[in-house]
Amino acid sequence: MTTMSAEFIALHGRCSSLVLELPPGEAPLWRHWGARLPDDLDPGAALRDTRALPTFALDQDLPLTVAPVFGTGWFGQSALLAHREGRDFAQGWTGCVPEWTVPGRALTLHLSDAVAQLRLDLSITLDADSDVLVLRATLHNDGDSALDLQWLAAGTLPLPGHCDAVRSFAGQHVHEFLPQTDPLTRSLWRRESRRGRTSHDCFPGAVVTTPGATAQTGRVFGAHLAWSGNHQQTIEWLHDGQYQWQFGEWLAPGEGRLAPGASLTTPELVASCSDQGLDGLAANFHAELRRRLDWPGGAMRPRPVHLNTWEGVYFDVHPGPVKAMATAAAALGIERFVLDDGWFHGRHHDRAALGDWWPDATKFPDGLGGLIAHVNALGMEFGLWVEPEMVSPDSELFRAHPDWALQIAGRPLLTARNQLVLDIARPEASDHLFEKIAALLAAHPIRYLKWDLNRDLAPAGLGDGRAGYRAQVLAAYALMARLRAAFPEVEIESCSGGGGRIDFGVLRHAHRVWTSDCIDALSRVEMQHGFLQFFPPEIMGAHVGTAPAHTTGRTQSMAFRAAVALSGHLGVELDPRRLSTEEADELRGWIALHKQLRERLHHGRVWRGEAGDGLRWQFHADADRADGVLIVLRTRPSDHRQPPALRLPMLDAAARYRVRELRPDGAPPREGRHDTAPFFDAQDSAEGVTLAGAWLAEVGLPMRRAPAETAFIARIERV
Ligand code: GLA
Repeated sequence: MTTMSAEFIALHGRCSSLVLELPPGEAPLWRHWGARLPDDLDPGAALRDTRALPTFALDQDLPLTVAPVFGTGWFGQSALLAHREGRDFAQGWTGCVPEWTVPGRALTLHLSDAVAQLRLDLSITLDADSDVLVLRATLHNDGDSALDLQWLAAGTLPLPGHCDAVRSFAGQHVHEFLPQTDPLTRSLWRRESRRGRTSHDCFPGAVVTTPGATAQTGRVFGAHLAWSGNHQQTIEWLHDGQYQWQFGEWLAPGEGRLAPGASLTTPELVASCSDQGLDGLAANFHAELRRRLDWPGGAMRPRPVHLNTWEGVYFDVHPGPVKAMATAAAALGIERFVLDDGWFHGRHHDRAALGDWWPDATKFPDGLGGLIAHVNALGMEFGLWVEPEMVSPDSELFRAHPDWALQIAGRPLLTARNQLVLDIARPEASDHLFEKIAALLAAHPIRYLKWDLNRDLAPAGLGDGRAGYRAQVLAAYALMARLRAAFPEVEIESCSGGGGRIDFGVLRHAHRVWTSDCIDALSRVEMQHGFLQFFPPEIMGAHVGTAPAHTTGRTQSMAFRAAVALSGHLGVELDPRRLSTEEADELRGWIALHKQLRERLHHGRVWRGEAGDGLRWQFHADADRADGVLIVLRTRPSDHRQPPALRLPMLDAAARYRVRELRPDGAPPREGRHDTAPFFDAQDSAEGVTLAGAWLAEVGLPMRRAPAETAFIARIERV
């Protein structure tokens, strides 16, 4: 007998809601994830009462649940794939007890399968302010034999059938966040990575759009797995016309083997939806990450401007020259001096020494103390590069403990950048690393670790021959947490050959990421645009590098290099001793401008846009849009005789705004004959120009004629 009544659970955010239906003795059915619904809105009828059975189907209707399982009537992708020596290959939830952990906000669904002897705890939290949904699953093996778990989704999300495309990121080393858009069709869409780290080429996140969605308008959905290891996401068309989106850790064979009584918890799936387009979604993810970041002292302080030694001197770090670099850096206004690779025992190139984490006696016979004291005396903090999870075959550590490298007996050790991966899930290996790094942090006022990870994991065999991908990620997190607990004032930067480990998982422990080893400003424009979809600007390592850029050979002006880096966590990565007086003056001016703007740039919202004709822009403002900084980057020559105006659709149409051009002190005069006109002269004055919000939003801000690879920066304030 059918019934019109059913039980529902709803969670509401500011702009989004989710609704589940709870049929007795089953997993909850997905009824809605999307637009905000009125509180207590009842869907009116049980889902099955609203759908007729199709022909030639099972006689029981099985709609999408929060955890669809294989073998008992669900023919789509399963959130769980497991067996016991070939048996219990099929699962079916026989009970569900919902438990509010925070009434109205956070819920755990306790699902059970009395036949396969499994329990699944699925936690679902919807943040009321950010509209961010966090899902996480724990599977318990209640049987008396081992369970082989092949796949466990952290979450299964419904997507409406009118979604039309999925935007994800491809890429590679020195070209991270390469945008890729695929149409959603009846074919399965899947991205997965088995490299053992977040990866350069397959970021664990994506954005699904609906027709007509733009940067600032329309409904979009996003999801990201907070995990620094293998991952898999799948979007599948379902026969009722909607899609399901599953996301979780990709488990290597055997990694999900659960002894009787054991359990496995997935990484968190962080998801959100917005009806304010890609930027609305980005704001939600930024809010969630800002809530999570664990700053020394409890709150973010203004991000100190860095000097990183890497591209300035590479491995050639000797105290005299490095001290001179520090002196030159301080004169530019740098606030934190980061000694990159090359400082530790035997490290003169990338073919040796990883694992020997004490100062090289030929370079630093008296240790690092003298250099650090010099840096501190200049008013700068000191930071140090380490790559704890790695070992060079040519190192004292490897010679003493060759068994500590991840390996598979009988198979070759595969090197990458001449290095092997240390099995840090071994307590003795992680204790060794802790002791070595703690000794440095205890002996010196080191306030920052740049924590690198410069290769993929292969072969990732543990000492007992089993796969160690998952163990390695958990051990890296544990080592970071242990060091942070012992030295809570130390910040960590997550680097992985540039952007190979950028995710919300590592950012439980880290405070900045190195976006890419490519510092070419033009390359960075697109990378940073993609980065900002999920991550806020204050954690985005953004450096002013050399011209020509080392990774591309392209040359850009100081102004363009600095303007591109301006909105992130600013750094300088070159040898400041080699700058001409004019270059140093100009860079000093940019650093001063960044310091003046960083409070505004690093709080509040970010809007990003493409205005056509090679113009990309970013607007950083408070939530009220009363005070903002606009950065406009011209990436190629204009193909217009007069450049079109730049529309700023996020501005309050009812307000008036003062637009003032910002240029650093010491900026060289503009080049070009056509760049002056009365409007621009006024905009460049202390008073600026005043325009109506509606005009700026609909008609736009006039744009100066400007050569390729130049920037325009303005303060836009409500008057
Ligand atoms: C990686 C990092 C660089 C630098 C080098 C040092 O490539 O991404 O920034 O630290 O390692 O070897």
